[in-house]
Amino acid sequence: MKLTKKIMDGIKVSNFFKKKLKKTLLFYKNQGHRTPHLAVILIGTNPASLIYVQHKKLACKNVGIKFVLYHFSKNISETSILKKINHLNNNDKIDAILIQLPLPIHINSAHICNSISPYKDVDGFHPYNIGSLCQKNPTIIPCTPRGIITLMKFYDVPTYGLNSVIVGASNIVGRPMNLALLLHGCTTTVTHRFTKNLKEHTKKAELLIVAIGKAEFVDSSWIKEKSIIIDVGINKQNDGSIVGDVKFKSVIKKASLITPVPGGIGPMTILSLLQNTIDIYKKNIKKYLKY
Ligand code: GUN
Repeated sequence: MKLTKKIMDGIKVSNFFKKKLKKTLLFYKNQGHRTPHLAVILIGTNPASLIYVQHKKLACKNVGIKFVLYHFSKNISETSILKKINHLNNNDKIDAILIQLPLPIHINSAHICNSISPYKDVDGFHPYNIGSLCQKNPTIIPCTPRGIITLMKFYDVPTYGLNSVIVGASNIVGRPMNLALLLHGCTTTVTHRFTKNLKEHTKKAELLIVAIGKAEFVDSSWIKEKSIIIDVGINKQNDGSIVGDVKFKSVIKKASLITPVPGGIGPMTILSLLQNTIDIYKKNIKKYLKY
């Protein structure tokens, strides 16, 4: 097999779906509907967050979603953010709300994320949406897990019955990914900082998803022959280059399929944000048509 055939190309696949989204939105526009509207709240100046938000803004512009950024200083109070979210929750013209994470430490992230209306919760982090996913009744699926599932489906990965291992149990990736994989028939293991003999788990994985934010942590000695490797990490090196949590050059020889960094899960996560926004928008304009 040629090496390029082993690579799951997140740029190519996300562009393929973005073209479809653009067409869908043109169709609604021609029917006289308003533009979908995403509100993003950014607090502080975390360099990675500034870049992610910029990418989200460009992607929205590209497909025809109205993007409005509310950028606050890192010293803003929790009460002021809750007030802003309350306004956005009650504004019928706003379909979707996203709070860029992480938040400054004086702010309770759970409190803030849970204050977003579950119907506008484009990240799918609200307990209502996570609970629905947990009960096999998905509503809004968190963006990175949705992007990973979309990418695997595109490459015809047969998920049913796969032994999968997730490294990292974060609220953003590891935990919702576990629920999404269960939904697609995987037998799942989630590992975390207290896991004993981590390598024993990863070496058994037919599907390995790594989301820990540690540059090139996983090399070929950690993986099973012919396994499928999904790398969620985006780590900036001292020389400015970006690498994943997986040592790509070492692992690609042993894996059957692998995602690159950059150009793998990053663009797929942004695609999911667009898809989630448009899914919510479609429900909203349907409601409007009833009146
Ligand atoms: N920070 C890193 N990833 C994400 C994400 O998927 N959503 C939000 N809101 N913040 C993030």
